[in-house]
Amino acid sequence: MSTSPDREAPAEHPIEALLRRRWSPRSFTGAPVERAALDSLLEAARWAASSSNQQPWHLIVARRDREAEAFGKLLGVLAPGNQAWADKASVLMLAVARMVNPANGNPNRHAFYDTGAAMAQMALQAVALGMQLHQMGGFDAARAREVFGIPEGYEPVAAIALGPVDVAEALPEALAAREVAPRQRRPVREWVFFGEWQG
Ligand SMILES: Cc1cc2nc3c(=O)[nH]c(=O)nc-3n(C[C@H](O)[C@H](O)[C@H](O)COP(=O)(O)O)c2cc1C
Repeated sequence: MSTSPDREAPAEHPIEALLRRRWSPRSFTGAPVERAALDSLLEAARWAASSSNQQPWHLIVARRDREAEAFGKLLGVLAPGNQAWADKASVLMLAVARMVNPANGNPNRHAFYDTGAAMAQMALQAVALGMQLHQMGGFDAARAREVFGIPEGYEPVAAIALGPVDVAEALPEALAAREVAPRQRRPVREWVFFGEWQG
């Protein structure tokens, strides 16, 4: 695990090291990710829980060194603010959810939830392998559907940049500042209600 100590979450109660050390960097080295590591990342996602074990997640994977054309296409559908740094990722991915239960044709209202759970598992596996990933909602879903031929019944959920992390100074100044900004979270008491809703 290569997270620098100053990026570790200042957790107020004990949590596992992988959780503390996961974060969303913007500075990536672009070094190739070995096939074995990629297999472990995909396997980690595979074992996520999902509603009725439907496993609605799908993933388009574009390695900068192996699927260069797809890497360029994925970069092209990102919001400009994300393109500014995600071009240095080793791997770009697009998480796509199957919105219908194939067993009965019913809508699956848990598809996004389950796809997010799979990506969260992948994020922790990335930390264990000395990498990080950065999820992005900032992309053009309609264009992604067009560019990658994603059929009806499937929804692009998030783009993901993955790879070994580089130093903050490798980024332009404004982005570098965000890379070292203090990590913040809402206090638990703001969003946990014991026993009843306290809005
Ligand atoms: C669904 C989702 C969408 C996100 N979209 C973007 C994005 O478009 N651009 C970006 O730079 N970060 C994006 N992020 C990263 C969040 O800003 C980041 O997770 C949050 O600030 C907490 O920081 P941490 O992951 O380092 O703990 C996204 C994260 C998630 C889970």
